[in-house]
Amino acid sequence: MPTSYAYFQKRIVPLEEARLPVMTHAFLYGTGVFEGIRGNWSEERGEVLLFRPREHFERIRMSAQILKIGLPLTVDELTDICVQVVARCGFREDVYIRPIAYKSGEVIGPKMHDVEDDYLMFVLPFGNYLDVEAGIRCQTSSWRRVPDTSIPARAKVTGLYVNSALAKTEAMENGFDEAIMLNDDGHVSEGSGENVVIIRHGRLITPARSDNVLEGITLASVARLAEDELGLEVIERTVDRSELYVADECFLTGTAAHLSPVVEVDRRKVGAGAIGPVTKKLQALFFDAIRGRNPKYADWVTPVTPAAEPAAARIKA
Ligand SMILES: Cc1ncc(COP(=O)(O)O)c(C=O)c1O
Repeated sequence: MPTSYAYFQKRIVPLEEARLPVMTHAFLYGTGVFEGIRGNWSEERGEVLLFRPREHFERIRMSAQILKIGLPLTVDELTDICVQVVARCGFREDVYIRPIAYKSGEVIGPKMHDVEDDYLMFVLPFGNYLDVEAGIRCQTSSWRRVPDTSIPARAKVTGLYVNSALAKTEAMENGFDEAIMLNDDGHVSEGSGENVVIIRHGRLITPARSDNVLEGITLASVARLAEDELGLEVIERTVDRSELYVADECFLTGTAAHLSPVVEVDRRKVGAGAIGPVTKKLQALFFDAIRGRNPKYADWVTPVTPAAEPAAARIKA
């Protein structure tokens, strides 16, 4: 049976052996930065295709730099560790990879200095997060997105996700699939774990980076597909809440969410209340690229051959 493995304290170990002490600073104060990376299974190739791992490791290094968390591994080294752990797991299905650089010292007191750092990552099998086919229903959250002046929004900080968790749970308890958060100015910021894109008059519009959004890797990839494959203009600017209600189309982008069409916001249909034509085309282009079916975007994927099951396990089965 394929098993989840982790890179933990500089060794590759079965996930259940990766355990942290209760006084770990990152657990007490949320002092970690993380990534989510998808490995998409390609049946044709018999490989797991990591989607833009280098960009994710560049971003975790940037997040660590912002938070003053030591991460003495290069992008090449981080990518290499990731490839080794994914291969060791042997999963022949879609996986999700969670790297974390964190304050590992067992120290009381909220601070970033004089606390030891460490790095770990683990791999899990992972299917769809939101409904990419039928589309999703969103609610504007009563929780505002944490401003960059409080916790850096372009860093993927573990503690910052309390904000996302509150928004997501509120939306789901109110019968929606996902939350869209506004910033303190009342402008659209992002989903609980996704960037927001609207389409109006044939142009893609997404909130400006200075509106407290994470600089999404999926968003950048979809923007490139929109420009290069469909010849569409992509604009980053302030987006009003009411623009969500009059958009022709709307979708969310994210590592977990892929490209998820939004068919309703605050009980108002978006466009015809079904996945829109541009969203559909972009989705097809995106899924082809992440499954390695478009040679033009071959450099977006890093292939990993899953380890074969150990001989003993095969005989037993
Ligand atoms: C708050 C937030 N915004 C946006 C995104 C989308 O970023 P990416 O496409 O790089 O996964 C994520 C997911 O990582 C997120 O957690």
